[in-house]
Amino acid sequence: MEADKQKVQTEKVQVTDRDLSEQIKAVTKESHVRAENTELMLAFQRGNINLQQYKLLLCSLYKIYEALEEELDRNASHDSVAPIYFPQELGRLEALKKDLEHFHGQDWRKKMIVPAATLRYAQRLREIGSEHPEYLVAHAYTRYLGDLSGGQVLGRIVQKSLGLKNGEGLAFFSFPTVNSPNLFKQLYRSRMNSIELTETQREGVLEEAVRAFEFNIQVFDELQNLVSISEKNELRQRHKAHTLKTPDVR
Ligand code: HEM
Repeated sequence: MEADKQKVQTEKVQVTDRDLSEQIKAVTKESHVRAENTELMLAFQRGNINLQQYKLLLCSLYKIYEALEEELDRNASHDSVAPIYFPQELGRLEALKKDLEHFHGQDWRKKMIVPAATLRYAQRLREIGSEHPEYLVAHAYTRYLGDLSGGQVLGRIVQKSLGLKNGEGLAFFSFPTVNSPNLFKQLYRSRMNSIELTETQREGVLEEAVRAFEFNIQVFDELQNLVSISEKNELRQRHKAHTLKTPDVR
């Protein structure tokens, strides 16, 4: 707690309507509601999830953070990236590797299943990393501040629903070097607000944030479709096995 507190205190935290942190929150408000209400996120909130859903989500998150963090690293000294570059505190890739290895074993890479929406999202991240590094803040905000907010509640639900013990398979939700998510979010917002952007760049960043939410929604929808297809197949298989076992009495 102390380290986060000190950082927040030593940096002036004053929020105004012109601040990127306020504007980005306002323009993505409606998208946030839609993201929360996707079938997959509702299932998570209700604790109505199975291991297959969670494993599929981890695979997609891996692909997304791989692209996001590679692009943040490559642009670490860019004026619009440096203030919000927190690889030690926020980096998720190693945690995701650990979780995937826990569930799939050493050859987890061969077992990755990701829908097309995930690949499109990763592709966009690589594109802006090369062409518009100043837009990376929109994507970093969408994922990391989400992980530090609702993500913390989801982690506890996943742990309970799947009966995971000792934090195994849950590294994604844990930020060992962030003592207080709330104070850290405050620091992050003040860093966002310190980024100097032209009006056109600011508009671009705000548009990109809405797009970032849209990518997430598409990923959740496609993951849910994958789950539904595989559940239907399983039911069909069970039905087939049952009819083969039951003699026809007509
Ligand atoms: C903030 C809940 C899904 C991105 C928050 C906050 C809550 C929350 C309670 C804190 C609001 C505040 O401090 O004012 C949830 C729940 C979700 C969910 C229950 C679904 C189960 C998502 C998703 C994303 C996301 C899917 C994006 C991919 C964010 C962001 C913030 C946030 C960026 C920070 C907003 C800000 O302070 O500027 N969420 N969320 N959330 N969430 Fe979510």
